[in-house]
Amino acid sequence: MSSPSFAELGVPTDLTRVLDAAGITVPTPIQAATLPDSLAGRDVLGRGRTGSGKSYAFLLPLVARLAASGRTPRAGKPRALVLAPTRELVNQLHEALVPLAKVHGFTMQTVFGGVGQGPQVAGLKRGADVVLACPGRLEDLIKQGHCRLDDIEVTVLDEADHMADLGFLPAVRRLLDATPKDSQRLLFSATLDNAIDVLVRRYLTKPVTHQADSAQSPVVQMDHHVLRLSREHRVPVLVDLTSAPGRTVIFTRTKHGAKALARQLNKSGVPSVELHGNLSQNARTRNMDAFHSGKASTLVATDIAARGIHVDDVALVVHADPPAEHKAYLHRSGRTARAGASGTVITLMTPDQERDVRDLTKAAGIKPTITRLDTVSHPVLAELAPGERVLVPGGIIVEAPRPASGSTSGSGGGARAGGGGRNRRRSGAGAAPSGGQSRQGGGQGGRGQAKQGPQKSSGGQGGRSRSGSGQSASGGGSHGAAKFSAGMR
Ligand SMILES: Nc1ncnc2c1ncn2[C@@H]1O[C@H](COP(=O)(O)OP(=O)(O)OP(=O)(O)O)[C@@H](O)[C@H]1O
Ligand SMILES: [Mg+2]
Repeated sequence: MSSPSFAELGVPTDLTRVLDAAGITVPTPIQAATLPDSLAGRDVLGRGRTGSGKSYAFLLPLVARLAASGRTPRAGKPRALVLAPTRELVNQLHEALVPLAKVHGFTMQTVFGGVGQGPQVAGLKRGADVVLACPGRLEDLIKQGHCRLDDIEVTVLDEADHMADLGFLPAVRRLLDATPKDSQRLLFSATLDNAIDVLVRRYLTKPVTHQADSAQSPVVQMDHHVLRLSREHRVPVLVDLTSAPGRTVIFTRTKHGAKALARQLNKSGVPSVELHGNLSQNARTRNMDAFHSGKASTLVATDIAARGIHVDDVALVVHADPPAEHKAYLHRSGRTARAGASGTVITLMTPDQERDVRDLTKAAGIKPTITRLDTVSHPVLAELAPGERVLVPGGIIVEAPRPASGSTSGSGGGARAGGGGRNRRRSGAGAAPSGGQSRQGGGQGGRGQAKQGPQKSSGGQGGRSRSGSGQSASGGGSHGAAKFSAGMR
């Protein structure tokens, strides 16, 4: 059964050329399902598994629609709005958009808190075709009179259900209220549930819903395991798993837990960085860059990294603390086995968590293999994370430009020599150096994008081999702040 090409789905040739150059030639199911409607200007509700290419499913029509309408952005009045729950995701979407936007010379501006608002305000003032934002800061800038949404032609809510979660919903509603009623709205997530009902009823006109898979159909290339162990075995088991070849993302329930675990892993010789809301934006960016570049092989994160974030070749996701609910389980787990690659997901379960984990995996539609670990040298560890264990004394220090007010991870000395993500079960070598989103060639919206050979073999089962950087649209001189890499989230 051959799937239609991007061109057959209606994607303009100038954009398919960009995809081709990135090695993206075969639409994923969610792309194939939604593109005809979204390109036709309809409101779309799209659900597709984690790592199934939802970003392009909304970025392609966004660019195509803006190109078709052909307007010029006025100062402070963007033409398209992409809302996402985290700064990292905003940056990632920006990077994915750079090469597509460049085709038409569209300008972009990222908007999120944690960094100075000056450059964002300046970018808006110059006129940005597309604003990619976290809701809070965008509302601030609107209140201050720096931005109006009257000219919005397309709004995207990425991670729509999450955006609808408590805390985000009121802001999202106010923002949508400020956009023209007849503008296009696209809502995407790997989990679309009742949380978005209110948004759908109020803001979508005759929406088309596309579910490229059932809510509970697991990603096929993802192996799910539960390790039942006692509390004192947790860290030694994590050290063993993370010192195997390959990139690992570990999730903890709390910010403190993430910080403490990253420190323990570093101390034990696993180059690790942390990501959570207690870090400054600079530290978040530095840590993610270290993970992308392969200097750190393990990322220890709270759920802040659970949604949308894409890092190439994450072989293993570990729930060091079981997540609070099944949606979080699916999103966290989805940091591996993306775009046709395979991956392993492990939940550490202490005896008192047994019931919670059972309910959680059941609700997530997962039947994990459960193994009881009575010792930390159980053979199952080598099965789940095969390969030689390598420890680097002291782990990694991610350097902060200013030493004070330290919040980054790392103890001891010595970063791993050579960086380079360790790939497990991957043909492609190497980590994707983070594609910097550098500010370039100023002027009104100058945004050259230096494509650095983003080779992506179109993902036959079991492994994208990537040479060069991920989908690194680097050099995009929109005025976005921090840099982030790859089609990552
Ligand atoms: N048609 C395609 N063929 C091959 N790779 C693709 C295709 N579309 C997207 N990709 C790549 O797949 C990876 C994951 O895409 P993306 O981040 O959009 O997934 P997602 O569905 O949004 O996942 P999540 O639910 O975790 O947010 C990216 O590296 C992206 O470049
Ligand atoms: Mg996504």
